[in-house]
Amino acid sequence: MKKTVLTRKAAVLLLAGALGAGVAGVGFTDLGARAAIMLTNTVTGQPLDLAEAPEEGRDTKAVKTFLETGVNIYNENPACLAKGHELFLSMCSGCHGHYAEGKIGPGLNDSYWTYPKNETDQGLFETIFGGAQGQMGPMYGALNMNEMLLVMSWVRHLYKDDPKGATWLTPEQRSKFTPFNANAKHIEPAEELTAACGGPAG
Ligand code: HEC
Repeated sequence: MKKTVLTRKAAVLLLAGALGAGVAGVGFTDLGARAAIMLTNTVTGQPLDLAEAPEEGRDTKAVKTFLETGVNIYNENPACLAKGHELFLSMCSGCHGHYAEGKIGPGLNDSYWTYPKNETDQGLFETIFGGAQGQMGPMYGALNMNEMLLVMSWVRHLYKDDPKGATWLTPEQRSKFTPFNANAKHIEPAEELTAACGGPAG
């Protein structure tokens, strides 16, 4: 008797898990089971399939934290911004400009967004992962999820307007934030991926 009850309970839990994963659209994998936030495509609103992201860079502390909370722990982390800068130069600046001032693609360094959700880190991740319209293609084939978070932190660092508009920062970060100035001394790009920024430990 007791055994039956347990089994049924387990079946219900499994079903609930499968349904949950279905809604999140990430498949019933370790990845799906972990994504507590619902991530959707910026244009179609369809759930993002996180299983499309490269295996590498899935298990970093930053990715785990992000999938649970929508928070990017690399924001204003001086140790990781240099790598974010390097990734931005190789993957984004050709279309968005050297310092995200805008070129073929729109500027990413002010508080105007074509898609207002990009003022949240969840929205920004969704746009980078799944793309938007025209030349803004999905990035999951070119960047892993850890790299997406690194590049996002650099995009946020490039913000040039009143810190009050930097709603993606915590109040503490906002109180210390200096608007980006390309002519002033700033963090140079760096190739190296240290353990603190999701690189191999040790
Ligand atoms: C081949 C050119 C190209 C590349 C490379 C590119 N983008 Fe874009 N991006 C665009 C275009 C064009 C748009 C406008 C699309 C739209 O409005 O739907 C856009 C839109 C965006 C938006 C939405 C902006 C808004 O105002 O809501 C974000 C965020 C963004 N890109 C970030 C990035 C990041 C980060 C990278 C690098 C990882 C990148 N893009 C690489 C061309 C590009």
